[in-house]
Amino acid sequence: MKIIVVGTGFVGLPHAAVLSEAGHEVYAYDIDPQKIAAYESCDRSQIEYYVNEPGLAAAIAETHNRYLFFTTDISEIARDADVFFMCINTPPMRNGATDLSYYLNAAHDIAALLAERESDNRVILVNKSTVPVGTARVLENILKEHGVRNFGVASNPEFLAQGNAIEGSRRPDRVVVGADTEEDFQILRRVYSQFVNHVRIKYVETTPETAESIKYMGNTLLLTYISFWNGVGARVAESLPNVRMEDLKIGVTADGRISTWGSYVSNGAGGSCFGKDIQSLIYQLNQAGASTDLLQAVYNINEYQKTYLVDRAIHEANFNFNQKTVALLGLAFKKRTNDMRDSAALKAVEALLGKGVKEIRAYDPLAMEAAQEYWFNPEKNHLLERITYHESAQEALRGSDAVFISTDWEEFRGLSRTIEKTVAPPYLVIDGRRMMPDYEMLVEKGYDFLAVGSPFLPGKAVVTQSSDNGVAVELEPA
Ligand code: UGA
Repeated sequence: MKIIVVGTGFVGLPHAAVLSEAGHEVYAYDIDPQKIAAYESCDRSQIEYYVNEPGLAAAIAETHNRYLFFTTDISEIARDADVFFMCINTPPMRNGATDLSYYLNAAHDIAALLAERESDNRVILVNKSTVPVGTARVLENILKEHGVRNFGVASNPEFLAQGNAIEGSRRPDRVVVGADTEEDFQILRRVYSQFVNHVRIKYVETTPETAESIKYMGNTLLLTYISFWNGVGARVAESLPNVRMEDLKIGVTADGRISTWGSYVSNGAGGSCFGKDIQSLIYQLNQAGASTDLLQAVYNINEYQKTYLVDRAIHEANFNFNQKTVALLGLAFKKRTNDMRDSAALKAVEALLGKGVKEIRAYDPLAMEAAQEYWFNPEKNHLLERITYHESAQEALRGSDAVFISTDWEEFRGLSRTIEKTVAPPYLVIDGRRMMPDYEMLVEKGYDFLAVGSPFLPGKAVVTQSSDNGVAVELEPA
């Protein structure tokens, strides 16, 4: 099949690479020439600057210029393409609605090109990015408006999690195809022939609107489950006596019907999808006059979780942030990515600056560049000058009065030793990810410890005793 993937971000680029592995002739198209030049170079660091996914650069190098081509111009190729995958960013607006302006611009451009083609071959436009229910119908109307002949529209939502895009595309748990005609289903079966009738992969054919809804239902259910653990599990272990968070989690999730994924309590789930999708679904249902109480509660719980540790530090640990220096470890929304979109760290920074901290010493193994793009703009707000950037966790800890762990990077598991070597009590450790299995050692040594899913643990007083238990005597000078 001759396929054009429109938009080469996190969704489009891995999709194009994996489609080309299946022997299709794939054109990855983007209006940004810098991106296209980076991908064409096949240079890993240049590719990862835009999309940081394990295995992506190798996958591109494998099929580039054989089955996979990059371009900023599809005016020729569009003439005889079979399928267009729309992988365009659809950011949220302030009221929760989805901003479709980039998507609609691209749809109009493509429709204008297709209206001019000579061939009468069937062409299908497939929505892969998450778009409100009914968007396939909007696309259909745009194509009609431009007078495009013999076309179909479809919805084929993306279910990948960041950090697993290539493997997830090669072996998805499901492929959902929403279309209107048997002819279009058939074309998409040819695109995904390796997944049709697969023993482990569910290949679901349905209406475009159902396919669009499956994506929203999936993401909001995952966030609901995380929020159950954050809003109920963590509260039980923090507030009721003698409850151990890890045992609670193991005991509950031992039931085969209950997932372990999502039971890792945290200072809030972030990323480019969960927050955006739940807000969009709330907006869509409100517009339709349907009730959204559960979704609204889930959204509120997740937002509350992003800053509540700062409040707990003030009220439970009696910590006064005013003029204090705080090390902030982890800026990305989860480990193994440099993506900071809707990261809990963004809200933590706002809360800390609001409480008057003197300095935030930030460190993340991958997201330092992204962080500086977010924050290194003192003209936007002079408070941003208070954020400093460091090359290691230990550097960030130096001279701080407290540390806030915001991302579940593996390297933070060994942090207690680094803390002990770098900063002395009185000192407050705020663990938003329960990353420190040996926190008791820190408490013994006098460090205060505050974690999601545990009551506050004040550091034990450090008592120095002389080795023979004798009484210290001070003699007056003669
Ligand atoms: C999410 C979904 O998991 C994918 O299925 C979906 O396709 C994708 O959004 C999308 O719509 O594109 P992703 O945003 O990459 O994927 O990240 P997740 O791994 O789901 O994590 C989201 C957030 O939840 C992170 O901040 C993570 O740290 C947090 N999380 C996850 C928890 O706080 N606790 C957990 O137990 C699991």
